[in-house]
Amino acid sequence: MIDLSTEYMGLKLKNPIIAASSGLTDSVEKVKNLEANGVGAVVLKSLFEEQIRMEIDSLGMNNMFNSYSDSENYVAYYTRQHNVSEYLRLIEDSKVAVDIPVIASVNCYSIGEWVEFAQKIEDAGADAIELNIFIMPGDTQLKSEDIEYKYFDIIQSVRKNTKLPIAVKLSSYFSGMGEILTRISNSGVKGMVLFNRFYSPDVDLDNEKIVSSRIFSLPEENAMSIRWIGMLSDKVACDMAASTGINDGYDVLKNILVGAKAVQVASTLYKNKTKHVSVMLQQMESWMQQKKYSSIKEITGKLNYSKLNSETYERAQFMKYYSSYE
Ligand SMILES: Cc1cc2nc3c(=O)[nH]c(=O)nc-3n(C[C@H](O)[C@H](O)[C@H](O)COP(=O)(O)O)c2cc1C
Repeated sequence: MIDLSTEYMGLKLKNPIIAASSGLTDSVEKVKNLEANGVGAVVLKSLFEEQIRMEIDSLGMNNMFNSYSDSENYVAYYTRQHNVSEYLRLIEDSKVAVDIPVIASVNCYSIGEWVEFAQKIEDAGADAIELNIFIMPGDTQLKSEDIEYKYFDIIQSVRKNTKLPIAVKLSSYFSGMGEILTRISNSGVKGMVLFNRFYSPDVDLDNEKIVSSRIFSLPEENAMSIRWIGMLSDKVACDMAASTGINDGYDVLKNILVGAKAVQVASTLYKNKTKHVSVMLQQMESWMQQKKYSSIKEITGKLNYSKLNSETYERAQFMKYYSSYE
């Protein structure tokens, strides 16, 4: 019998596959179905910082609807459709309905009164909070250190408002990746999700318009997570979860081998439906059986960068790669 269990940010998971925050986790029925198909945990669809701020500022809401730009009106519209108390009910009801850990998620980019909402998430019974922090580094006046400071500010402010374990879901837009990820891991967070994947622009040549590029990831996009988790998982002070491009059970194993404690999946479940989780679990078990491994713990971090001792390895691979194609 193969033991697929793992521990991620202090939570016990029966296996490392977590349903990522998305429309796949926005209702109790979907969460129940994900559990029935075998996921180890779920991250609920994110609540947006703007939604919480608007609810706090509800007296001023009518003015906002009338006087704001299109994008701000969209936020207002979204807020009316998905209000904050419904989110708390989703946490409460999911906790009653399933035995797997339920992680709440907040999408944020600044501090403010909204951070107090972390306490409400805790009261609703969530097992942890994932902060999807994204500050687009496009402001030509804003230095890297000022952007980085905001991440720490948000983490510290949320920490003051809850005792729940906190994970941060990050983008790959950092210059000194090793240094910043290590520093974030020392800020009291228990988990780090590498990497978030979000809207990217594309150009529609026929209509000469900016449009959204592919919504769902491709397996090739997993390379970034493999690199950075492999390089840093034994240097950071918290657990790492992989996200983006994890398509099947073999991809799960790759990320575990380089040091991830868990993986998060969205696109593959959109494309192959929730039942794909059981296929992924079978693929993992059959590979482990074939290789005579009996537990996930045996393989976690086995191919971690430092185990391969690898400055030379990386440099040599780099040279080999560039010199083998003429
Ligand atoms: C339709 C859709 C909705 C998403 N909604 C959220 C969200 O609300 N919050 C969040 O943190 N990530 C959200 N994501 C990002 C996913 O959680 C995940 O990080 C990303 O899709 C990369 O993983 P994948 O390659 O398995 O899809 C969403 C992704 C998709 C495709």
